[in-house]
Amino acid sequence: MNKKKIIITGSAGFIGFHLSLKLLKKGYQVIGIDNLNNYYDVKLKKDRNKILKEYKNYIFKKIDIKNLNELKRIFKNKKIYCVIHLAAQAGVRYSLINPKSYIDNNILGFFNVLDTLRKNNVKKFIYASTSSIYGLQKKFPLKEKFNTDNPIQLYAATKKSNEVMAASYSHLYKISTIGLRFFTVYGPWGRPDMALFKFTKNILGGKPIDIFNKGQHVRDFTYVEDIVKGIFKIIINKKINLGSRIYNIGNGKKISLMKYIELIEKNLMKKSKRRYLSLQKGDVIKTHSDTRLLKKDYNYYPSTSVENGVQKFIEWYIPYFKYNKKKN
Ligand SMILES: NC(=O)c1ccc[n+]([C@@H]2O[C@H](COP(=O)([O-])OP(=O)(O)OC[C@H]3O[C@@H](n4cnc5c(N)ncnc54)[C@H](O)[C@@H]3O)[C@@H](O)[C@H]2O)c1
Repeated sequence: MNKKKIIITGSAGFIGFHLSLKLLKKGYQVIGIDNLNNYYDVKLKKDRNKILKEYKNYIFKKIDIKNLNELKRIFKNKKIYCVIHLAAQAGVRYSLINPKSYIDNNILGFFNVLDTLRKNNVKKFIYASTSSIYGLQKKFPLKEKFNTDNPIQLYAATKKSNEVMAASYSHLYKISTIGLRFFTVYGPWGRPDMALFKFTKNILGGKPIDIFNKGQHVRDFTYVEDIVKGIFKIIINKKINLGSRIYNIGNGKKISLMKYIELIEKNLMKKSKRRYLSLQKGDVIKTHSDTRLLKKDYNYYPSTSVENGVQKFIEWYIPYFKYNKKKN
């Protein structure tokens, strides 16, 4: 049994669940933090958490990172090897509806985690940033060194702030901080507010799917297991005192939204009813990652094609929601 203690915030979330599962299987002591909020179906979060709770080396703390005192209690008198911070108000579109939630969770919450870990002498901090930070960048593939000073919604603005906050703490307190710009993560146990989930649900239910920007969106879709493999390589790497680093973590391939929809239809053996809509305010039009930096420093290689990844999602979705493909 690996005795290293790791704190994962957002452990009942989509990516946090998959990462926690991998670390638990590898024998790490995982302390998972999540407030199980109702941004989307709480049952999905509880079901993920139930699987994690089957492992003896998992400790779950239902707390809110906005509450500094609760966080302090969790860190107290524990030798934490590293903190992986995934808890956040996610979602681009919701940031136009409830911007305050992003300030509360992603700015105040982020600060609470950062300040608590430094007071408890944690030297390795890995946190989630986003590809949305590149905004309306016209050059592709997207490189970490590109200017990211022009976010096009508050979600990206809060994530950019996180990168800057981490850099200052890295400098002041000699903490290795590693920000990962995730590119559209998808896979089993995925988020109900994201395209793959919504499209699958509506196609199976015979309802139309909303296709924004008349289907002209292009995304670098990244399978969740590839993300987890990448984070794991960073965790086990023994280099210390790296300062503050930022990496893209994507699949490195661009896929049009229409191709993605065709793949979903093929797997469901059912055509979608489509509603073509105009570009939504705040939506990024195209993402495509350059992941050479992460390959160079951590030997990161994504290996799941979008064809395989979509199939794996559907293979999870159908039994989880007890749909019968042939009946629909
Ligand atoms: N999924 C993607 O495609 C994607 C892309 C870019 C960035 N990200 C980032 O990756 C991280 C994980 O994303 P995800 O897709 O797993 O999202 P998710 O919403 O499934 O997971 C986040 C988890 O954090 C928890 N949480 C939120 N606020 C909290 C608070 N104040 N206190 C305690 N727990 C809180 C939620 O309950 C949830 O379980 C987020 O920071 C997100 O912004 C995700």
